[in-house]
Amino acid sequence: MQSLHADHLLQRLQQETAGPLHERLFRCLRGAIIDGVLPATHRLPASRDLARELGVSRNTVLNAYETLRAEGYVQARTGSGTWVAEVLPESCLQSQARARAPTPPRRGKVTLSQRGNTLLGHAGASPHQWGAFVPGAPDVTAFPHAQFSRIQARLNREPEIDRLIYSSSGGGVELRAALADYLRVARSVACDAEQIIITEGIHQGVDLISRLLCDNGDRAWLEDPGYWGTRNLLRINGLEIRPMPVDEQGLVPDLSDPHPPRLICVTPSHQYPLGSHLSLARRQQLLAYARQHGSWIVEDDYDSEFRFSGQPFPALQGLEPDSPVIYMGTFSKTLYPALRIGYMVVPRALAEPLRLAAAELYRGGHLLIQRALAEFIREGHYAAHIRRMRLLYGKRRAFLIGLIQRYLGDAWLREFNHDAGLHLVLNLPADADDVMIAARALRRGVKVRPLSQYYMQPQRRRGLLLGFACVEEKKMMAAFGVLKQCLDSGS
Ligand SMILES: Cc1ncc(COP(=O)(O)O)c(C=O)c1O
Repeated sequence: MQSLHADHLLQRLQQETAGPLHERLFRCLRGAIIDGVLPATHRLPASRDLARELGVSRNTVLNAYETLRAEGYVQARTGSGTWVAEVLPESCLQSQARARAPTPPRRGKVTLSQRGNTLLGHAGASPHQWGAFVPGAPDVTAFPHAQFSRIQARLNREPEIDRLIYSSSGGGVELRAALADYLRVARSVACDAEQIIITEGIHQGVDLISRLLCDNGDRAWLEDPGYWGTRNLLRINGLEIRPMPVDEQGLVPDLSDPHPPRLICVTPSHQYPLGSHLSLARRQQLLAYARQHGSWIVEDDYDSEFRFSGQPFPALQGLEPDSPVIYMGTFSKTLYPALRIGYMVVPRALAEPLRLAAAELYRGGHLLIQRALAEFIREGHYAAHIRRMRLLYGKRRAFLIGLIQRYLGDAWLREFNHDAGLHLVLNLPADADDVMIAARALRRGVKVRPLSQYYMQPQRRRGLLLGFACVEEKKMMAAFGVLKQCLDSGS
C-alpha cells in the first residue's frame, strides 16, 4: 500500500468516531474495499507499516485485519501477507450495489439561474459527432498524428518555463505569428500577429466578445437559418436576437432596423447551413452600415478552406482597411474538433482589451500544443493536410451527390449547395416532417439533422443536412440506402 491509501484511511478515520479504535479502523478498511479504493486481490500493507503510517499500535491493525478476515473481506496467505478477497461477501455486494446505484436526478430541487435555464432550455450540442452523415465532422482519422507527435516530442523535451505558466498574451506568440502569415495569404485577412487572439474555438471567441462588447438587451443580427451554437452563446450573454433571412446572396440585412445591432453575425464565405456566399454588394452594404451605426461584424469563417472548385472567396475582413470586423477561425474543421483551438483577428483598438479579458475569464494555457501547431503550419504540413483533405472531401461530396441524383433526383439538391464545405442540404417538400425523418434515421444509426431546426422564424424550409467528410464511400452507400428507406416511408 502506498501512503496515498494511508492518507485515505486517515481521512476516513476522522469521520468514523464511534467505538474502539480497532473497530473504527475495521470499518474504514471495509469501506475502502467496498468502494474499490482497495481493489480485489490488492495486497494490504504489513500490519507494522500501516500502524506506523496511521500512528496507531500494531495490535489495533492486527485486530482490524482479523475482523476483516473473519467477515470474508480479506484472505491471509501464509508467508505472503493479507490480500483483499477476490469475491466480496454477499452482504457487501448488496451494499455495493446500493452505493453504486445512480442517484435519481433531483431536478425539482436544483435552482438554476435564469441564465442557466436559458442555456439548458436551448441546448443543442449533439451527442452524435461521428459517422454517416454527421454534418460538419471532418475525417479525424486522416490527421497526421505521427507527424504532429514528432513535432510535439521534439518541443516537449525541454519546455521553456513560459509555456508552462498562464499566458496573458492572447496565446502563443509563434502560433499568432504563423497564423497571421497564413491568414494574409490563404484568406486575404489584413492582420499582424498583434491582432490575433488564440481561443479554444469559435464558441469561446463569441463568448468573449459578447461579454466584453455587449450589454444586456443589446441587439445581434443572426442569419436565419443559422448556427445555433452562436445563437445560444449570445442569448445567455443577454443579447436580443434579431433573425435575418438568407437568400442566394447570403444574409439579407434589414437596414431600417430601428435598433441598430451591436453585433452582426455572418458566415460570409459559406453560409451555415444553406451554403450561399455573401455577395460583394451585401458585404459593402454591411460594412458601411456597421461603420455608420458602430456595430461589429462577426465573421465566422468556420470551413472556408474547403472549396472544391473555383477560387476560394476572400474574407470579408480584408475587403476594406480597418474594417469593423472581428474575424473568427478554427482548427475544428481543418484538423480535428477536440483540439479546441481557434483564433480571432480583431481590430487594433480591441486587441488589448480582449487579450486582458481572455486572461481574466479563462486564463491562457495549452501553450505547448500551440507551439507545436505553429511549427506544423510553418513547416508546411498544415497547408499540405488541407490540400489532401480538400481532395478527399471533394471526392466524397461528388459521391454523395451522385447517389442523390441517381436515387432521388436533382430536385433534392438545394439551390445554394455551392461546391464547398463539409455538408450539403437535401431538399424536402414543404410538408415533409424533417424532424421525424431524422429521428427515424437515427434509430437506424444514420445521423442527419433536420433543416427546419436551424430556423428561428416560423417559416421554415424542410430538408436534411448531410455531412459527407467523415464517411468513406462504402459506408456512405449503406447509410444512404437506410436514409432512402426512411424518406420513402416518411413522405
Ligand atoms: C458555423 C459554425 N461556426 C462555428 C462552429 C464551432 O467552431 P469551434 O469548434 O471552433 O467552436 C461550428 C461547428 O460546427 C459551426 O458550424
